[in-house]
Amino acid sequence: MSTSVTANIPNAVHTAVCGLQYGDEGKGQIVDVLAEQHDFVIRYNGGANAGHTVQIGDEKHAMHLVPSGILNPNVTNVIGNGVVIDPATLLEEIDVLATRGVEVGDNLRISNRAHVVFPYHKHEDGLREAAVSRLRGQEKMLGTTGRGIGPCYADKAYRSTAIRVSDLLDVDVLSTKLKDVIVIKRAMLGALADLAGQALEAMDVDALVEQYADYGRLLRPHVCDTAQLLNDAAARGGRMLFEGANATLLDVDHGTYPFVTSSSCSASGIYSGTGVPAGSVAPIVGIVKMYTSRVGGGPFPTEFADDDAIGGGIRERGNEFGTTTGRPRRIGWLDLASTRYTTMISGTTQLACTGLAVLAGLDTLRICTDYRYKGEVLGTFPADAELIADVEPVYEDLPGFTDSISDVRSYGDLPAEARGYVDFVEQRLNVPIPQVCVGQRRDQILARDV
Ligand code: GDP
Ligand code: IMO
Ligand code: MG
Repeated sequence: MSTSVTANIPNAVHTAVCGLQYGDEGKGQIVDVLAEQHDFVIRYNGGANAGHTVQIGDEKHAMHLVPSGILNPNVTNVIGNGVVIDPATLLEEIDVLATRGVEVGDNLRISNRAHVVFPYHKHEDGLREAAVSRLRGQEKMLGTTGRGIGPCYADKAYRSTAIRVSDLLDVDVLSTKLKDVIVIKRAMLGALADLAGQALEAMDVDALVEQYADYGRLLRPHVCDTAQLLNDAAARGGRMLFEGANATLLDVDHGTYPFVTSSSCSASGIYSGTGVPAGSVAPIVGIVKMYTSRVGGGPFPTEFADDDAIGGGIRERGNEFGTTTGRPRRIGWLDLASTRYTTMISGTTQLACTGLAVLAGLDTLRICTDYRYKGEVLGTFPADAELIADVEPVYEDLPGFTDSISDVRSYGDLPAEARGYVDFVEQRLNVPIPQVCVGQRRDQILARDV
C-alpha cells in the first residue's frame, strides 16, 4: 500500500483535474493536494460561477476565480484566456486571502486575453432567465448562478461588444469601447427588460470607465501573455496542473445542453483556454463524487424526490449547499451511465472519488449503471435533455456500511462494503481509482493501490 497520495501520479508532467458530474465533485481539494508536485496551477474555463472549496484543518477557503493552487507557496497560479473574469469578485477574493495570511502577488498571473464580466452581463443573465420563464410560464429556465457568465461568453463570440483584460489597461481604449457597448446594451437590454416585465438598470458609462480602469490598475501587475508564459515554462521543464471549473456534464458542447454553462469544462477546453499545445496533458484525473449533486435546472435521472429522507440526509451530511450561491443542491444516487460518458469525453486516465463518507449509515447503496428508454437499454448518452429527463435508471444495489469512516486514514481500514463500492465503480468505468476521499481536508484523501 503506498502511503503518499501524490505518489500515485508517477512522472507526471502536465496533469488535469476535471469534474465528471454536474459540478461540486471536490475538484478544489484534489487540485490543492496535487499542486505540490506542479509549478503552475491553471484555470482554463468558467468564471465566478465556480466555487471550489479547499479545507486546511478547520479553515475552509472558497475559491471562485483564483486557482486552488494558491495555498501552495511554491506554485504560480494562472487564470487563462478561456476564463471570464469579474474583477470585483477577483479583487475581493484576493483581499479575503490576504486577511487569512495568503499573500497574492507574483504567484498569480492573469491572461491579457481573458474576457471581462461587467455589471450589465449579470443584469442580462437575470433578465434572460426572467424573460424566458415569463414566455414559457415556467419557473427559472436554466437556474444560472447569475454571475453574468453566459452573456460574457456571448459577447466574446459577438466580438464587437467584448472587452478583454488588456483593454482595462488603457483607459482610452476602455472608454472608447465602453461608450459604444453601453449604447448597444441599453437598446438590447431595454427590449429584454420589457419582455421580462422588469426595470432596466442604469448604466453610467463614465462611472463604469472609472471603476474598470481602477480595476485595471490594481490587476496590472498580474497581467501578462499567459500562453507565452506557460509555453516558455513548459520548455524549461515546468510542470502544469490544469484545474477545470464547472464539470463535464455542464460543458457547452458535451453536457446536458441547454442545461449547461457556457464554456468548455471538459479536458478539451484546456488547449483553447490556455494556449498550450493540444494533447500535451496527461494524466487526466476525473473527479467523481460517490453520489450526485446538481444545482440549477436540467435533467437528473437519479434524483431523489424533494422530501426523500435518504436524499435529505445526504444533503445535510455532505453540506450540499452551493459554494457560490448558497442554493440547496439537488441530490441523487451515483450515475455511472452519465459518468461513463464523461470519462470518455474528458479522456480520463484515473479517477479520484470523493464523498464516500457521506454514504455511511445507509443500508443499501444504489448505483445507476444504465439508462432504459421505452423499454430498451441505451448504448450511448442521449443528446436531448428532454430524453434524458425521461429515461429510467437501471440500478444495482450494493450493501451499505454503518460506521463513520471520516477518521479512517488508511484505505485498507475502510469497511469491506465501502471498498466493494469503490471496486464496483472502478470495474464499471474501467478507469483506476488511486485516490478516495473521506472528507474535505488534505489528510482525508486516502491512497488506494491500483
Ligand atoms: P468543487 O467545486 O468541485 O471544488 O467542489 P465544492 O467544494 O464546491 O463542493 C464539494 C461538495 O462535496 C461540498 O458540499 C462538500 O461538503 C461535499 N463533499 C462530501 N464529501 C466530500 C469529500 O470527500 N471531499 C470533498 N472535497 N467534498 C466532499
Ligand atoms: P464548480 O466549479 C455547480 C450551473 C448553474 C446552472 C448552470 C448554468 O463549483 O463545480 P451559469 O451561471 O454557469 O450560466 O449557470 O450551471 N453551474 C454549476 N453548478 N458547480 C459549478 O461550479 C457550477 N457552475 C455553473 O447552477 O445550473
Ligand atoms: Mg463547487
